Amino acid sequence: MRSIDDLVRRNIRELSPYTSAREQYLDNALTLLDANENPWGSIGMVDSHQILNRYPDPYQREVKEKLAEAKKHPVEGIFLGNGSDEIIDLLIRIFCDPGKDELLTTTPTYGMYKVSAAINDVAIREIMLDPDFQLKGDDLLRNVSESTKLIFLCSPNNPTGNLLDKSQVTRILDQFDGVVVIDEAYIDFADDPGFIEQTTQHPKLVVMQTFSKAWGMAGIRLGVAYTSPAIVGYLNKVKPPYNVNQLTQKQALTAMEDAHEISMLVAKVQNGRDWLSKELALLNKVEKVFPSDANFLLVKMTEPKAIFQVLIDNQIVVRDRSNVVLCEGCLRITVGTEEENQRLIDVLKRIEA
Ligand SMILES: Cc1ncc(COP(=O)(O)O)c(C=O)c1O
Repeated sequence: MRSIDDLVRRNIRELSPYTSAREQYLDNALTLLDANENPWGSIGMVDSHQILNRYPDPYQREVKEKLAEAKKHPVEGIFLGNGSDEIIDLLIRIFCDPGKDELLTTTPTYGMYKVSAAINDVAIREIMLDPDFQLKGDDLLRNVSESTKLIFLCSPNNPTGNLLDKSQVTRILDQFDGVVVIDEAYIDFADDPGFIEQTTQHPKLVVMQTFSKAWGMAGIRLGVAYTSPAIVGYLNKVKPPYNVNQLTQKQALTAMEDAHEISMLVAKVQNGRDWLSKELALLNKVEKVFPSDANFLLVKMTEPKAIFQVLIDNQIVVRDRSNVVLCEGCLRITVGTEEENQRLIDVLKRIEA
């Protein structure tokens, strides 16, 4: 069995991270002359109650405490990134030696695992999902080698929209001797608790969630990793010191005070998803609407490229996934507001007329 330390790249294990004087002395400091900030304040403030002339808390303690409470996960096991995309990149940099190690993921899935791997010169093996977009744990495990350090899974999966089969994921957690990342960007739209709780038994498991989807805050760039304190320690070591800015931290805190409203937002999306799914299924040009646990629908069309273009001509942008393995002929359509969904259906009906 490889420990977390064994799996980490040697240069990262030995790295002395950047430190700020304030981290050590903040508790009783009155006069802050350590970080070359502007003591006079800021100009053009959108909100005059914010303090923006000072660097933010590098460890975002307040935000993490609120998340720890909400998710019943130890605060030392939480890491925040500038979007989940930053966390994906940091994990690859911590565990994979460029040109040597490799990571495993499924196909189709979210594109950033492959892009981040390529940026870091890390080989990636993509294991095909089955025709129901399900994972075969054994297929994945058969492709594991000595140099496989990371497995990226996405549940609900993008662009297919389905939750991955729990027993298959559990099999991978039990048998893979490396780090498993489960990207749960869309979990709030599914009736499923996800995998955060399993991080207690599996210290090499990282569950990623984000403020970009159900929370409606893609603009603030805030991704969350729930994992073991040991992995958080390495993430803290390699991250840029102030990776989550002050405005984002404040906005996340304010949003969490209204956490009860999330279920209302999610219900609106789920209702929109059901409506859109039924309306789409009635169209002649739609061959299949795949079931979705997320806030988008994968829709198989008779002429996806032509339909994509008509939608563009009508100022509606969807995602063309028709060239993606197992998604041949498909467009991926995000569930919009009632008006947006109606507009989409109106345009599609016009094509059929
Ligand atoms: C599966 C998945 N993970 C992560 C992200 C990006 O999340 P963030 O906005 O937190 O970087 C996306 C964005 O579409 C996604 O589909």
